[in-house]
Amino acid sequence: VDLKPLHTFGLQAWAKALHTISTTSDLVRYADSLQQGRAALLLGEGSNTVFVREVNDLTVWKMALTGKQYLGCDGVHHHLRVMAGENWHNLVEWTIQQGWGGLENLALIPGSVGAGPVQNIGAYGVELKDRVRTVQVYELQTRTFQTLDLTACEFAYRESVFKQSGKGRWVITAVDFALPVQWVPILHYGDLSRRVADLGVVSPLNVLKAVSDIRTEKLPDPVVLGNSGSFFKNPLVAVEQFESLKLAHPQLVHFPAEGGLVKLAAGWLIEQCGLKGAIEQSVGVYERQALILVNHGAGQGAHLLSLIERIQQAVQARFGVHLDAEPNLIAD
Ligand code: EPU
Repeated sequence: VDLKPLHTFGLQAWAKALHTISTTSDLVRYADSLQQGRAALLLGEGSNTVFVREVNDLTVWKMALTGKQYLGCDGVHHHLRVMAGENWHNLVEWTIQQGWGGLENLALIPGSVGAGPVQNIGAYGVELKDRVRTVQVYELQTRTFQTLDLTACEFAYRESVFKQSGKGRWVITAVDFALPVQWVPILHYGDLSRRVADLGVVSPLNVLKAVSDIRTEKLPDPVVLGNSGSFFKNPLVAVEQFESLKLAHPQLVHFPAEGGLVKLAAGWLIEQCGLKGAIEQSVGVYERQALILVNHGAGQGAHLLSLIERIQQAVQARFGVHLDAEPNLIAD
């Protein structure tokens, strides 16, 4: 099976077989195949997975559970259950059409609903965890459906239990959202507030439009230019390290973070190393946003791996900061 069309970075790679998960019995078949020791990988829309090497023994299982269900309103929140295979941006648009605000800052994030909790997707001041009540999962070992609350999900900046101790333990089958009845706009990121004001009334729809405009200006459309969104996480550093970096680099771009840490803009660090627009054969650093790596066409995994290393080494040498890759790199 050709994996190129199955992941948005679009590197050439081949897998053994492709199955879809669209029913409970498909979940059981997936659990069976893992129990029999077969190499298997669960995939949503492939916007956070990059196949960097041939994976000839691997069977890819594509999440295709669909459906959206309104669970009711308790006066404070509208509750809904959305199946993992639904497209994220379609969900955002649909909720706003229904008159429920809350997800508009997360407009145009590529990928599926079920992939959202894995890295706690976030943009423009909102993270998925701010709008989620529980995550519905299927535990592969016990073959039972379970409900994980926010604590169990261990959400943090681009992190969750699904990437850490719970990796491979569950299949996310649905996400339960709680959207506020009393909508409060969140406009503090960058120039979002000015851009919404330019559109007129402050409404969920206009926030969605403003966010979509910013994203279309800055981020390449994966259909046109293969990419996986931000390729590195913005690094979190201790206040002391931040202070000394700031002395050496007064322009250092930073954001407040939880836990007494400071979040640095990885895009800025990469740009300062002179790597914006850098090219490593078929792959490169996007010219308009240095945190995005792009596939210029015939991208190969080996080229991507050397570009990653080049960036990590440059940022380490100049700032003493390590950049962690954000997407899941499938290397064997
Ligand atoms: N910057 C530069 N040069 C660049 C890029 C950025 O100097 O080439 C500096 C600018 O000062 C800019 C600041 O970095 O103001 C932040 O840039 P931007 O607003 O584009 O956001 P980001 O930190 O690069 C993060 C998320 C994005 C999300 C935006 C908006 C991560 C890893 N990335 O990017 O998420 O859309 O903020 O909230 O946290 C993604 O995860 O795939 C993603 C696109």
